[in-house]
Amino acid sequence: MKVEVRQSDLHESGAQLKVAGLFEGEQLPDPLFGAAGGTDAKGAYRKLSRLHLQDGTPLLVVGLGKREELDPERLRVAAALAAREAGRLEAGSLAWALPDEGEASAAAEAVVSGTILGAYRFDRFKREESEEEAAALETLWLLTPASVSASVEAARACAEAQNRARDLQMTPANVATPSFLASRAEEIAGAYENVSVEVLGPEQIAAKGMGGLVAVSRGSSEPARLIVLRYAGGGAGQTLGLVGKGVTFDSGGISLKPGAGMHEMKYDMSGAAAVLESVAAVAELGLRVDLLAVVPTTENMPSGTAVKPGDVITQYNGVTVEVNNTDAEGRLILADALAYAADLGAERLVDLATLTGAVTIALGSTYAALIANDDGLAAAVTAAGERSGELVWRLPLHPEFKQLMKGKVADLSNLASKRKAGTITAASFLEEFVGDTPWAHLDIAGTAWDVGREYTGAEASGFGVRLLVELARDHAG
Ligand code: BES
Ligand code: MN
Ligand code: ZN
Repeated sequence: MKVEVRQSDLHESGAQLKVAGLFEGEQLPDPLFGAAGGTDAKGAYRKLSRLHLQDGTPLLVVGLGKREELDPERLRVAAALAAREAGRLEAGSLAWALPDEGEASAAAEAVVSGTILGAYRFDRFKREESEEEAAALETLWLLTPASVSASVEAARACAEAQNRARDLQMTPANVATPSFLASRAEEIAGAYENVSVEVLGPEQIAAKGMGGLVAVSRGSSEPARLIVLRYAGGGAGQTLGLVGKGVTFDSGGISLKPGAGMHEMKYDMSGAAAVLESVAAVAELGLRVDLLAVVPTTENMPSGTAVKPGDVITQYNGVTVEVNNTDAEGRLILADALAYAADLGAERLVDLATLTGAVTIALGSTYAALIANDDGLAAAVTAAGERSGELVWRLPLHPEFKQLMKGKVADLSNLASKRKAGTITAASFLEEFVGDTPWAHLDIAGTAWDVGREYTGAEASGFGVRLLVELARDHAG
């Protein structure tokens, strides 16, 4: 989407749809007030009033709620409502008169994110002449007297990256295979001079001793990939390691999942999608930071060659694991990837994974779980979440949780000995593979899809892209 900042007045902009926010208990400013029905427009949060200017162009008034309660989240929601209205009207251009409240750059960022995310559609597999194939919103004009161009550009790059992550999530597992994700990583590396990529195939993965990735991929005829994507932004600080779970389809393996809802397991690569596209966004923005992204990617399938409950494997760092449930596969591939990323020089580690169903029970789709071995990193991730609106809530580590992950015949079991604290025990397992490196784990199983906010929609949300870019920005100092 093209985004431009303009100083013109709303009624003078040539946009096909004009949008103004209205605070509760207030009235539209003079020139708009004259619009047919302008006196009836109400400012209750999320309330839409569809008006027309004298020249006949549609004017949408979006309720922003109480002036003193305005925050970026409300503006993202308001902007997404307007973007959807543009979709219904098949408007190609939209002009938003930013509210005269709060910091102009924060408002601009929120409206840009909300518009781009709200306008998202995935119609790659729809017939061209189908109804859904309506004209798309192509241009957004932000009308504001302030100079907000730099923040607008950053918000645009982030939101577009998030939509690309959503494309990867939405793409079905017969297309979005491990090699498909690897091709996307290669494309990103090809697009930016300071991004490089290395992709390991099954033989190299086995030769490195990545027993977790080998075990999980054994049941599938799709070959696994281990993607290493580096961004050298000339940062003065530490190398930030990003690890994303890339299970392109999780059937559960021999510990097969029930059929109902299994199709949703194409989303089990959402962590990988967020990591890959946030690297692309950071490169596009040229942030002065060094990133090392590691994405282990595979299918988890049952077959005659699949890993079996009770099998013992040896992970990249030499730790042995009893695979007591083949559906707890994410931790097996992340274990190798985390240890490998630390070996390659990551000085702080952040992983994103759709790791446990339990996190949805605990935190719904409102917060991702954050579990960390380092308070400083946990605080930085929490702050990045608040700045981006991608919220995280910290859960604790404790030696008692670790105790539940001990193996009977191997060092560890991939399944807790009691069905307690499923999100935390999964993280406790991962903790065994990061050594002394400061590490933060984000369980995004509840936030990666089915969020249902106006700007995320009901399906893939692209959760994590904005948070990771904020974290990288924080790292760049
Ligand atoms: N990918 C799933 C987690 C998941 C489940 C995400 C449902 C979103 C919705 C993960 O690989 C898994 O199967 N986890 C198991 C772990 C259990 C066997 C210890 C789970 O959460 O049930
Ligand atoms: Mn699983
Ligand atoms: Zn999984």
